[in-house]
Amino acid sequence: MEKLLQQIDLYKQEIAAFNEGDAEVFRIKWLGSKGLVKTIMGEMRNVAPEQKKEAGQLLNDFKVFAEEKYLALKASATDTGITATAEIDLSLPADPLPLGSRHPISLVRNKIERIFQRLGFAVAEGPELEDDWHNFTALNLPENHPARDMQDTFYISQNPDWLLRTHTSSVQVREMEKGKLPIRIICPGRVYRNETISARAHCFFHQVEGLYIAENVSFADLKQTLYFFVQEMFGKDVKVRFRPSYFPFTEPSAEMDISCLICGGEGCSVCKKTGWVEILGCGMVHPNVLDNCGIDSNKYTGFAFGMGVERITMLKYQIKDLRLFSENDLRFLNQFTGAV
Ligand code: PHE
Repeated sequence: MEKLLQQIDLYKQEIAAFNEGDAEVFRIKWLGSKGLVKTIMGEMRNVAPEQKKEAGQLLNDFKVFAEEKYLALKASATDTGITATAEIDLSLPADPLPLGSRHPISLVRNKIERIFQRLGFAVAEGPELEDDWHNFTALNLPENHPARDMQDTFYISQNPDWLLRTHTSSVQVREMEKGKLPIRIICPGRVYRNETISARAHCFFHQVEGLYIAENVSFADLKQTLYFFVQEMFGKDVKVRFRPSYFPFTEPSAEMDISCLICGGEGCSVCKKTGWVEILGCGMVHPNVLDNCGIDSNKYTGFAFGMGVERITMLKYQIKDLRLFSENDLRFLNQFTGAV
């Protein structure tokens, strides 16, 4: 017992003197599973029975003493484990965090959405995996119609009725079928076509289509809406023109061109020397489409339009190759940090 008391005293002195050094080193030496506190606790075995109570008390006090010292050492080091004595200048600025950026397709899609939202259009979305009815048949494109060739796509072998949508007009059909009129929506989303990949075509791309159905909607409304869009998107100086075209779901149909942004209409390689570039298709909704979707075509009329987001983005930022959008090359994507 006498020896034990002496040993505890010596240890206490040693611990009290431990002021500079690592808390972990202290812990291992004193409190670890092979540490001195544990070893000295083992001395209880050699203590006479009548002294066991007193010795237990002393040993326990000693253990608490060592533990408190350990906590104090830990608190004097910083949270990062760097001791207060280390020569590190904590006032230096941190390494900059790399800033992410939106994908150019998202930037332009958001901008298109904002322009049409200001005109009262709501955003509607639908599935990318569609059935034949919503993608083709309801849109006046019955099976075996030659115009289906314009939009060849990918079919799902599990169910011959399923396909990857070729346009977001399928979302317009779904909205019309709900039967709530008037309808004023834009439908952004990814679409698919079975095309060979090149600088100008891809097997998937993004669209924003639009639909307005009410009483007395006319072609003049269509023109004015799209004219507003072009001015907001590309600036006040840009001119538009409409060329007659064909789509099974609109009648009459048109393609809309804008004056070339590169040469201002003089003629260059981008506009193939014509001074104009095509940006979207549009027209008055075909009465058959309204009837297919349960809307009275004698009472209601409407216009629809559809544009490729990649195409608008390429014109806006003068990007020459469609493949850049899906290659995820940071040298390309970084250029859009902070762009709006
Ligand atoms: N759905 C057509 C396409 O993807 C675009 C379009 C929409 C044309 C609405 C006219 C009216 O090619």
